[in-house]
Amino acid sequence: AKNTSIPQTKTFGPMGSIPLLDRDTPTLSLSELAREYGPIYRFQHLGGHSIIIVTGQELMKELEDEQRFDKSIDGSLQRVRDFAGDGLFTSRTDEPNWRKAHSILMPAFSQQAMKGYHDMMSDIALQLVQKWARLNPDEAINVPEDMTRLTLDTIGLCGFNYRFNSFYREEANPFIQSMVRALDEAMHATTRSPLQSKLMVAKRKQYKEDIESMFSLVDKIIADRQQQGDQGETDLLARMLGAADPETGETLDNENIRYQMITFLIAGHETTSGLLSFATYFLMKNPSVLEKARAEAERVISGDVPTYQEVLQLSYVRMVLNESLRLWPTAPAFGLYAKEDTVIGGQYPLAQGDEIRVILPELHRDKEAWGDDVDEFKPERFADPAKIPAHAYKPFGNGQRACIGMQFALHEAVLVMGMILKHFDLSFNGEYELTIKQTLTLKPDQFTIRPKLRSGHV
Ligand code: HEM
Repeated sequence: AKNTSIPQTKTFGPMGSIPLLDRDTPTLSLSELAREYGPIYRFQHLGGHSIIIVTGQELMKELEDEQRFDKSIDGSLQRVRDFAGDGLFTSRTDEPNWRKAHSILMPAFSQQAMKGYHDMMSDIALQLVQKWARLNPDEAINVPEDMTRLTLDTIGLCGFNYRFNSFYREEANPFIQSMVRALDEAMHATTRSPLQSKLMVAKRKQYKEDIESMFSLVDKIIADRQQQGDQGETDLLARMLGAADPETGETLDNENIRYQMITFLIAGHETTSGLLSFATYFLMKNPSVLEKARAEAERVISGDVPTYQEVLQLSYVRMVLNESLRLWPTAPAFGLYAKEDTVIGGQYPLAQGDEIRVILPELHRDKEAWGDDVDEFKPERFADPAKIPAHAYKPFGNGQRACIGMQFALHEAVLVMGMILKHFDLSFNGEYELTIKQTLTLKPDQFTIRPKLRSGHV
């Protein structure tokens, strides 16, 4: 095989290629650079450290080889470990708690397990619908904000039988304020030089306080539950306290349970709320898709709230969500590293330990995989599961380190989207042009709508 060096982005002295990034939307900048440099390029980070960016399906196919590549916990994820520790999302695959928690928790996230969460999910979905149904004609809804209320309350209830009651407050719950600030800090800190970071004394103090306040809320929930004993709860916490790893017979310790709870709150609410927000946007922008989805919702959902079985029957709504995740994958990147020296694409040598980032908004727009109409919103692409180009569609990540919460997210999202379609006509609140806001996840920025109850009442 020939050895070609990987194209490299322009550099600016000790800052490397960092000045090429928009600090508020780094992943979008990496997407744009792929249009200039191609499906693989080397990005020069601070201090001589570089990462290899991949955005093409042929290369992705190779990266799926778990003998040669594994999830990397680098950059932002390393920072997120300050508060998510060795929870599932931020642990290395070789840490004992990854495998242990993975086998203990897999059954709790199976399609079958969704039956147990369905009524709790419906409880929260109904709160959103009832809020929207009671608006005055001149009131608008900030979509990402209400979707975040919904997804946070859902994971709180299904996860730990805890009610954040976000629909009853204007400001985000203090726990969430801490979490969002800490995530924001984790993202921004990676593009700062060590000296810049040192100078930000106030930020560091705030970061420390935010972490302490997250720990204290979660630790209290665990302690209360342990004190009260088993009352037949079927939530994730009950499972974590009770279930043993079939391989070792061990249960998770309290510190790890704390990290898993914080992980579910992080992983389980921003991503799903972003998905629901983008899907709402795309439906409104594409009236024929909206009509088709609504017809399905009206045909399938017999009462105000869909049953578990009816959620499974909302297959077009599910396709709408899949297509939404194609164009705007709300967890927009994941990281891998090379476990050994290797070559990819038949020509690009990688050294053991080399860091790789897969940038999903670009991978999901690979024209070889999806055709020339990649920028169009077409849920029909997902009609036949056999025809989905799997190597060019990774919204839930890859292999053994893929998202454990996928069924949970999709069940929740289909349920609430179905209800919105059945009960409301949606119109934009004035002109809206899509802009993207990035924290660790993506969502539509400043997206407000005016929902109008269609008929009857809920
Ligand atoms: C992992 C996306 C919802 C829990 C991941 C990964 C992606 C992802 C891309 C892999 C990250 C990596 O390789 O670094 C999404 C999207 C969601 C969603 C797009 C919603 C639309 C959820 C929900 C939960 C969850 C609802 C939990 C309730 C997790 C966990 C991991 C993970 C624990 C780490 C799994 C492991 O490494 O063992 N997710 N996720 N996610 N997700 Fe999700």
